Amino acid sequence: MDIRENLDLISREMHEALENVGSLQELEALKVKVLGKKGSLTALLRSMGQLSPEERPKAGQMINVAREELTAALEEKQQALSSAEKEMRLKKEAIDVTEPRDLPLVGTVHPTQLVLNEVLSCFEGLGYEVVEGPEVELDHYNFELLNLPKNHPARDAQDTFYIDDSIVLRTHTSPVQARTMLTKKPPIRIVCPGRVFRADEVDATHSPVFHQIEGLVIDKDVSMGDLKGTLDAFAKRLYGDDIEVRFRPSFFPFTEPSAEVDLTCFNCHGKGCKMCKGTGWIEVLGCGMVNPKVLEMCGIDSSVYSGFAFGIGLERITMLRYGIKDMRLLYEGDLRFLRQFR
Ligand code: PHE
Repeated sequence: MDIRENLDLISREMHEALENVGSLQELEALKVKVLGKKGSLTALLRSMGQLSPEERPKAGQMINVAREELTAALEEKQQALSSAEKEMRLKKEAIDVTEPRDLPLVGTVHPTQLVLNEVLSCFEGLGYEVVEGPEVELDHYNFELLNLPKNHPARDAQDTFYIDDSIVLRTHTSPVQARTMLTKKPPIRIVCPGRVFRADEVDATHSPVFHQIEGLVIDKDVSMGDLKGTLDAFAKRLYGDDIEVRFRPSFFPFTEPSAEVDLTCFNCHGKGCKMCKGTGWIEVLGCGMVNPKVLEMCGIDSSVYSGFAFGIGLERITMLRYGIKDMRLLYEGDLRFLRQFR
């Protein structure tokens, strides 16, 4: 076979093989098979030694032309393969940022907590400190030190859960007052949020477990006017300047005088409805001037110091804040309800 025929054969075989090459590795193998040290074209070049000196230049030229042509074909294929491979990789790695996905569930802050935060920030702004106390409480702090001795008729009003003779689930946050007065010297300015327990029925406005925020101020020359001003500022801060605050004389053994405070009904805005039992008002807290007897029992000189205290029903003011008509919604954890508070 002469050189020409050999070259044609090599070229045809390589072009055929090129058609079927599907990857860069296969292409490299083909390149080695033709142009490598032991490749077919290289072998042909070596065989030139057997030619006569006159034939050699022409054969050499033919082989070089063929080599260039084959190299160019291989390179072209290599480029095509690399761009195809790149395109595939990009396609595979592509992220469709518009594709909808499952969003993780994000919790919401409970409405009671939202209102508590607001109340605490209001009182912290007025210089109060936040103090907490135990939910399982000694009778001594829950009743005795608050001027509610054993067999006092006012104990009945509290529907107490007794653990034993001397331990109760606290029926109000007022024991935190007593604990604080026993351990701190006046001036005292505290708010005490927490859970309280009463053997109450469950309905739209009652629950056996609910929350109160106790407030206590003890200093020289504290008056009922200070109490009224403070609660007025608190009500306006939470509900706006239109809200009306009403003080009604009341009785608590640990305050004298005592009052209950009502706010304009959120449902009827004062006209009278089922929520407010036709009165136009909703009771939200009890308060009064700390009974001098309580001050003395807690080691504070009542001839020097006076003070006021209040106990806010957190659920009540939350319902007022958001127009929630059934207290049970605050306890049941229904996500359809909770997700509305973002
Ligand atoms: N402890 C009272 C109650 O739970 C509320 C209250 C607190 C009243 C402080 C007066 C002063 O009903």
